[in-house]
Amino acid sequence: MSDDLYREVILDHYRHPRNMGKLPQPDICVNGVNPLCGDAIELTFIVRDGRIDDIKMAGNGCSISQSSASMMTEALKGKSLADSAGLAAAFKKMMLENAPADQLPEDLEELSVLEGVRKYPVRIKCALLAWNTLLEGLKEYEGKKTHPSL
Ligand code: FES
Repeated sequence: MSDDLYREVILDHYRHPRNMGKLPQPDICVNGVNPLCGDAIELTFIVRDGRIDDIKMAGNGCSISQSSASMMTEALKGKSLADSAGLAAAFKKMMLENAPADQLPEDLEELSVLEGVRKYPVRIKCALLAWNTLLEGLKEYEGKKTHPSL
């Protein structure tokens, strides 16, 4: 894919983010903030039989953070919670450890367009905002299951 095509994919998700909004009565509701700019995201999920049955994103941010979040919501629908955490780990590995984009799992293929963001360290936090928020949400959900009274 050329740089222009990468840009187009990013802008398409930015202008038309998938799964925007908030789910009523979600099993997980989690907020994340990029400390560098103050942009925020809220993720709501419905979990059924250990899988993400539905997920929505709300909030504001730059094209990198919004497109990463939009692509993430598409990739996660129907995935088990463990697989979702695995996908987050794989994406973080590409962004933080320079793992090649062609080693991303098939479900994250579209996210390879964000590989070029690694050249701009400040923007890496933008690309990871949704994913770190996801991991926080999964952790909270696990905690609630282990300690239902909390
Ligand atoms: Fe705020 Fe990218 S500049 S998330």
